[in-house]
Amino acid sequence: MSTPTLGRPHNLATKSIEATSLSASWQALLDHHARIGDTHLRDFFSADPGRGTRYTVEAAGFTLNYAKNRIDKETLDGLIALAHECELPARIAAMFAGEVINTTEQRAVLHTALRAPVTERLWVGDVDVIAQVHAVLSQMSSFSEQVRNGVWRGHTGQPIRNVINIGIGGSSLGPKMACEALKHYSQRGLNMQFVSNVDGTALAEAVHELDATETLFIVCSKSFGTQETLTNAKAARAWSLGQLQDESAVAHHFVAVSSNVQAAKAFGIAPQHVFALWNWVGGRYSMASAIGLSIMIAIGPSHFSELLAGMRAMDEHFRDTPIKDNMPALMGLLAVWNNDFLGAQTQAVLPYEQYLAYLPAYLQQLTMESNGKQVRRDGQPVGCQTSPIIWGAPGTNGQHSFYQLLHQGTRWVPCDFIGFGQSLNPMGPADEPFDTQHDLLMANLFAQAQALAFGKTAQACRDEGVPERLVAHRVFEGNRPSNTLLARKLTPHSLGALVALYEHSVFTQGAIWGIDSFDQLGVELGKVLAERTAAELAASAQPSPSHDSSTQALIQRYRQLRETSR
Ligand code: F6P
Repeated sequence: MSTPTLGRPHNLATKSIEATSLSASWQALLDHHARIGDTHLRDFFSADPGRGTRYTVEAAGFTLNYAKNRIDKETLDGLIALAHECELPARIAAMFAGEVINTTEQRAVLHTALRAPVTERLWVGDVDVIAQVHAVLSQMSSFSEQVRNGVWRGHTGQPIRNVINIGIGGSSLGPKMACEALKHYSQRGLNMQFVSNVDGTALAEAVHELDATETLFIVCSKSFGTQETLTNAKAARAWSLGQLQDESAVAHHFVAVSSNVQAAKAFGIAPQHVFALWNWVGGRYSMASAIGLSIMIAIGPSHFSELLAGMRAMDEHFRDTPIKDNMPALMGLLAVWNNDFLGAQTQAVLPYEQYLAYLPAYLQQLTMESNGKQVRRDGQPVGCQTSPIIWGAPGTNGQHSFYQLLHQGTRWVPCDFIGFGQSLNPMGPADEPFDTQHDLLMANLFAQAQALAFGKTAQACRDEGVPERLVAHRVFEGNRPSNTLLARKLTPHSLGALVALYEHSVFTQGAIWGIDSFDQLGVELGKVLAERTAAELAASAQPSPSHDSSTQALIQRYRQLRETSR
């Protein structure tokens, strides 16, 4: 059996590359790949030591060093030519202008309007969307302040101590990630919880030992039609009323965020307690909208404004900067290079910042729901690999878990390392000039990226006296690419910039593949089948013969298990 060689594209990618003749610049990159695809990062660096500083770009307080990618100047020129051929600058302009770029759903894509200053105007039809955005931001600010200051009272007059966001996907992952990321800036007396899963355990554990008199639920659903969210919202109402014993209590303990005000009203939420969003905000791009109400309650309106300002700073950079210096565009193009030309299948996000623990989960939806598509906007097959599989965990924890595979596995994984110059929780000895514990954390980040890129040769092992029988085990092949992102400190501003950076990198990738990054039709089939099956399970009739034999057998077995006492 032959061992896969890191320098060559993986089989699947090779096949799709061969099957693809997307454009002249794509073909030029294929030819270029044939010339440099096997070049080791050690050789790239020895041929051009200056790349370490040259392959760096700054934006919105972040530095991206992308020198440890398997690229040279010709690769970059080729990727930039590809971006122009795919009309990336025009697509960016179209998004910011509110053109209907989500063509399958016939919608504008205007999450960038959510962070535009109040002085700006953007007309979609005869509506100024920025005025709408700021009206809702004011409503959110006043409500958040009331909750934070204890002015908003529960049904029995108690101030709110627990805020539970009920929502799933984009109506949970962003707020949950940001509340954790910005915990340092949050009002600690408020207990923030997130309930997503239709598994009853999620709600049961969230409310365990809570007092309903001091618990506020935010029912967060753009459509207000999502099965999991509505089921959990009904269960939460039952739990709440179980303690409060008065239907009128709902008004004090439930608010909603939705673009479907009628459905929220039908659920029993007063219209003045519904925070609006609009169909031009995609679920996974909605953190800056009223979907972020829980974030605003946790950190306060002024920190929330800083979060928006950080997003805005990255938005302006993306909108106004030529591609060669454009951080999100370069990150997106490098992802295309790694994915389609070098054959990577996954991408790891490795924040060396404990507060960013939920960032990989957030980026999974952002990236894979956006670009996990197989047809182009015109319905034709894409013809190459699309979204990488995103995964990751904070460093240094991952180093003691999956990094073995990153360093010596037969697959290789491009990594995004994310770190900060200052810790929010300095821990080193007081007499040291710097925070030594943070230095240790960052030393690990730099060491990992270096080890992945440069590895360790058999000769270096022998020189260290490694016995011959262990040399092969001690060799690190290296040549494993990574990006490193650095900013001064994790703040609302830097978090906003980081989120917008990834949003626009995903946009860039989608533009290159020619896909609609803003629909999610791939989640529909499972939803429909689950609803049909749930109805059958509830009716306890025989499973429908329309199921395949495996599903039918599993449903029968489930029923037996459901009714068996031991
Ligand atoms: O099922 C996918 C999805 O539509 C996501 O795109 C969205 O973020 C999530 O469900 C929740 O949708 P809603 O906010 O409408 O409840």
